[in-house]
Parts: sequence; C-alpha cells; structure tokens
Amino acid sequence: MNVINNIRQLRSWSTINKGARCVLVPTMGALHEGHAALIRAAREIAGQNGNVAVSIFVNPLQFGPGEDFSKYPRTLIEDLGLCRDNGADMIFAPKADDLYPPDRSIALYETSLSQLLCGASRPGHFEGVCTIVAKLFNLVECDDAVFGKKDYQQFAIIRRMVRDLDFNVVLHGIETVREADGLAMSSRNRYMTPEERAQAPAIRAALVAARDAWKNGERAPSALQQLITQQIQEKAPLGRIDYVAAADATTLQPVSATSELVVIAVAVFFGATRLIDNIELK
Ligand code: PAF
Repeated sequence: MNVINNIRQLRSWSTINKGARCVLVPTMGALHEGHAALIRAAREIAGQNGNVAVSIFVNPLQFGPGEDFSKYPRTLIEDLGLCRDNGADMIFAPKADDLYPPDRSIALYETSLSQLLCGASRPGHFEGVCTIVAKLFNLVECDDAVFGKKDYQQFAIIRRMVRDLDFNVVLHGIETVREADGLAMSSRNRYMTPEERAQAPAIRAALVAARDAWKNGERAPSALQQLITQQIQEKAPLGRIDYVAAADATTLQPVSATSELVVIAVAVFFGATRLIDNIELK
C-alpha cells in the first residue's frame, strides 16, 4: 500500500498506474467499520487489476465557525491499518497547505439541493464538500468513487455535480453500516456521553417506525414527520431535533406526485454532537 502526502508524488503514482481502473473512497479519516465497508466495495469494483485509492483529509472548507474542525478526530496510524486490512492500494493524505493556496479564489456552489436539510443549518458546508471532492476527482484521476448513503444529501449533491459539470466518474452509493442497536456508524459518535449514546438509537427506531407506517399505506409527509418527531422526543429526551424532512430522493425537494423514491432524513443534536440518518421509502 502506497502512502502519499503530496501532489507531486500523487502525479507520479497516477502516471505509473495509468490504464488501471482507479476507484476512490474520499474520507476525512477517523475511519470505522462504515468506511471499511466503502473500501471493500471499492475493492470489488476495482477488481484484481484495478486500484483502490483512499483519501484522508479533514477538509477545513466544509466546517463552519463554531463547528468541530479543530477537535475532529485525527487517527492516521489506525486509519492506515484499516485501509490496508480492507484492501486499499494507495492512501492520499495531503496537508491543507498543499491543497489550498492562501489566495485561492474559486469554489463550487450548488444552488438547489444544498439549500435544504443539513445545508439550511450548515451554510457553506456543501460548497466546501463540492470543492474538495472536485479537486480530489481531478487529482486522483479516478474512474469511480464510493460514498456512504448515511450522508444522503452529500451523495445527491455530488451526483448533481458530476452530472452538471460532466465529471467522467461513476458514483456508487453504499448502504449505511450500523451498530448492533441500529445507530448509524459515524466518526462523531465518540463525542457523546454514555447517556446520550444510550438514547441515540431512537433515531433509527423512529425511522423504521415511519417506514412501517409507509408500508401500511401512510403517505402524508406531515404524518410521517410527526411520528418520527414524537418518537425521538419520547425515547431520546437528551436529543434536540434539528430537522425531520420527507424529500424526493433525487432533488431533495419536498415530496411531490412525481417523486419516484422518497427519503426521510433527520438530524438530531445530542449536546454539541449532530447526528444524521435517513431511510428510503419504497
Ligand atoms: O463524507 C466525508 O467524509 C466528507 O464530506 C468528504 C466526502 C470526504 C469530503 O471531505
């Protein structure tokens, strides 16, 4: 496994590996079993002759003032072990100075899907995500990229970016990996107190209850939202709901008669820890 931490080395790696299919897994490190599943999926897609590249970079651009950029967990040594164990071929772990010139003046804005859900409470976040992902696609010259569907909005926005800007990259969305009690795996779960952690699975339970109601014929977004809100408030009094939204899975706009797939997305604060999760309704 090659560990590369600057653009010059990355360029020579790309030259040597030209012709081999390259599958990128973009991450911010603090890797857990959810990332391991992404890397394994990338390994399958790349096949024996292809390359799996994992980027590890805590992207300052996607953190707002007062968010957890400085305390975001940085666990490079453990991360490299997890990457190796799950079949990665190359790790790109650059420094911020290497990626962002101090006088940089170009960024990528998405103006529709990013206005809702997490975008509403995290202004600038998706601009930061689109900018770094576009840079990584250019730098790594990947053919495919793998993202987790826990960050549903992120995946929908990157899909839009690839479509609108004609990136020659095939995207793959991978199902969320969960703890035994249903909580979606996240690098931020470690921030919670034991009491908060004990209540956090209420998020998944509420989403599953909404899916059951959907299967039993409930189609009113407001009823599904209310059911989720009530359940979280009852079972997780330490939680503070940021949003519960029923949206069209592609446009993320409110559900309409033309929506082919519906997603319910939620964000809940436990103290300063903001957890997100979602469920697709079919
Ligand atoms: O999902 C993440 O970890 C990040 O948002 C990403 C895609 C690596 C961009 O920094």
